[in-house]
Amino acid sequence: MPDLIAAWSPEQKNAFGKTPITFQHKLPESRLFEDEALARVLDAYPAELYDINLFDFDADGQHTMRTGARGRRSGREVLEGVKEGRIWVQLRRAESWYPKLGPLIEEAFAGISGQAKGFRPIQLNGQLILSAPGAKVPFHADAPGVVLFHLRGRKRIWIYPPDETHMPQKGMENILLKQQTEDLPYRREMDAAAQVFDLEPGLAAAWPLHAPHRIENLGTFNVSLSVDYQTWESRLINGAHYANGVFRRWGLPVAAMGKTPALARAALWAASLGLKRARLVEDRIKGFERSFELGMDAPPETRLRAET
Ligand SMILES: [Fe+2]
Repeated sequence: MPDLIAAWSPEQKNAFGKTPITFQHKLPESRLFEDEALARVLDAYPAELYDINLFDFDADGQHTMRTGARGRRSGREVLEGVKEGRIWVQLRRAESWYPKLGPLIEEAFAGISGQAKGFRPIQLNGQLILSAPGAKVPFHADAPGVVLFHLRGRKRIWIYPPDETHMPQKGMENILLKQQTEDLPYRREMDAAAQVFDLEPGLAAAWPLHAPHRIENLGTFNVSLSVDYQTWESRLINGAHYANGVFRRWGLPVAAMGKTPALARAALWAASLGLKRARLVEDRIKGFERSFELGMDAPPETRLRAET
């Protein structure tokens, strides 16, 4: 597809990776995200890469999450369920398991690398996300870099600075050591520091590594493609956080990542490879259970129409 990513202004080129930006893309023109195509993909998708989530929020914006399985529902029924409820379906590894999408992701990132100076991703992982009109994604940070391509509906994203107030270094160490999910402590007053964007189909958002963010759908069914990327720089930083997290548990002093020179980061990353192999810290996330199945026994907001 020619010019999948629109030409960037000098400001966008300078800002990529340093401050949040949005930019235009043409992924919706591929027609890979229309109902027919999505229903077919949902039917064929491997169960272990298919997540169905439900978030409950209280008045202070605090949330609880339940994870479910699709049961025996067809792709079309799941799609109808998302359009009616508060659930959120995530198809992981979409670059491999939605075969027509893989080459488009490659092409989109070639379009970004051609414009963002020095940006050389070494790994890309796509998550195709279908979410209900009232769905929200709580305040969290992702360990890899992320570009969010918006495809259908409207959503609002709040992006916060990746500083100690919003993204404590210890929190990222715990995320990398799999001691906590990617959710972080959130307080309403943090919104004052956020940059806020309304995403329409054909708009993408990108932000600095580890910048926390949260999302609210604006009353419409939404489809987005979230692509995680690793560069050598992000791999070294995340390896360094991993090693620091282990050292912190051993009571050793840990320096602020912003004040850790590149060579020291590389040494910490090298240490992390051995530490990971030694499995010194137990993964507390892998036992995460699926607590409901889509269907009539499920929570009412996840129920699918009985007549379909
Ligand atoms: Fe995220």
